[in-house]
Amino acid sequence: MRRPSTGLHGTVTVPGDKSISHRGLILGAISTGTTRLTHFLTAEDCLSTLTALRALGVPIHRDGTTVTVVGQGLHGLHAAAQPLDMGNAGTATRLMTGLLAGQSFDSTLVGDASLSQRPMERVRQPLATMGAAIDLTAGHLPMQIHGRTLHATHVTMQVASAQVKSALILAALQADGPSTIVEKLPTRDHTERLLKAFGGDLTTAADGRTITVQAQPHLTGQTITVPGDVSSAAFFLTAASIVPGSQVTLKDVGLNPTRTGIVSVLQRMGGHLEIHPTDQPGEPLGDITVSAAQLHPITLTAADIPAVIDELPLVALLAATADGISKISGAEELRVKETDRIATIVTELRKLGVQITEQPDGFTIDGRQPWRVADAQFDSHGDHRIGMMMAIAALRLTTPTTLADAGAINISYPSFFDDLTLLDAETEAAHVTNLN
Ligand code: S3P
Repeated sequence: MRRPSTGLHGTVTVPGDKSISHRGLILGAISTGTTRLTHFLTAEDCLSTLTALRALGVPIHRDGTTVTVVGQGLHGLHAAAQPLDMGNAGTATRLMTGLLAGQSFDSTLVGDASLSQRPMERVRQPLATMGAAIDLTAGHLPMQIHGRTLHATHVTMQVASAQVKSALILAALQADGPSTIVEKLPTRDHTERLLKAFGGDLTTAADGRTITVQAQPHLTGQTITVPGDVSSAAFFLTAASIVPGSQVTLKDVGLNPTRTGIVSVLQRMGGHLEIHPTDQPGEPLGDITVSAAQLHPITLTAADIPAVIDELPLVALLAATADGISKISGAEELRVKETDRIATIVTELRKLGVQITEQPDGFTIDGRQPWRVADAQFDSHGDHRIGMMMAIAALRLTTPTTLADAGAINISYPSFFDDLTLLDAETEAAHVTNLN
């Protein structure tokens, strides 16, 4: 990975949105009729959901990035013959927990080493208010779900989590009356939007965080084009901003305001962005053109975090090039992602000589120090977003670097290095070495 002499140039259409791909499959499975998803994300995480649904008796056909789901209705799933292996996918695990808690059969969920360390009590506890019977292993996977009839609930969430909210919505669909879910802070609303598109009855109050779900809806299969994943586009928004001389366009990117925190962050830091929304029904979508800029520091607090939760490694990277001190707080959720991302961000950015101080709920970064490579062996730590963050950081360097466990990137973005190559970054991509 080395710096391109004239910056990054070109246009990229990033793969489909991970959150929407998971939800499209699940809602398709419990609808009547056929659901067709185009520009579906064929990364390991979404394939975990696809495989789990097949094991539950849902016929699913995949042809490249087009997926056809033959819906079985809300009560048409069948017990899986084996434990469902959710791989590395936290979203799949939490959403499937909500779905399976209300079915008439038992299920077992297992996952890889990282997923098996992630907290599941956050989903078990609120589901228990509906009568769900879920056994965890010391708060983690493996999980046994004893499917049963669920009761309507009024539940106030203890964590700002779209995964937990979505699990509750999926459970509420199967309950014996309408349920109300109150979020701690508003989080991504893809489940709400998609559920309405499939014919569900759900309302969000004016406070933006109180959701009422009507039970036992009749959902009908839909045709959905999944927008490009803004969380994947964010790597190139960052790259073009911090590699001098760059100008890059991202096509057909999801612009749902609950997800575009990275765009607001870049704007607030003085980034050069042009946004061209596309006029069409469904999830907001558009093109973003970004060019290199001298960035200024930023302060983010708890209320800013949900819309930029997955992009905080990139916010750290941007801050490491800004002409002042940035402070990110209220981001303790980073501690329970695919890795403890506060720890892995700090470890990896220190390899560049970045002045970063770790706090329990975030970090402080002084971007004024020039980078000085202290350790050229970067490491994804098995975390896709940390791996891609460091691949982008390497574009600013003149010395070759390596990335250990680069394969983790397949979790969300298998074509990441191909797309980077499209942006005139051939030399850099060729320098990535997977050390594992
Ligand atoms: C997601 C929600 C977020 C996010 C994850 C995807 C989703 O997790 O970090 O990558 O699709 O609902 P939390 O719900 O844990 O915040």
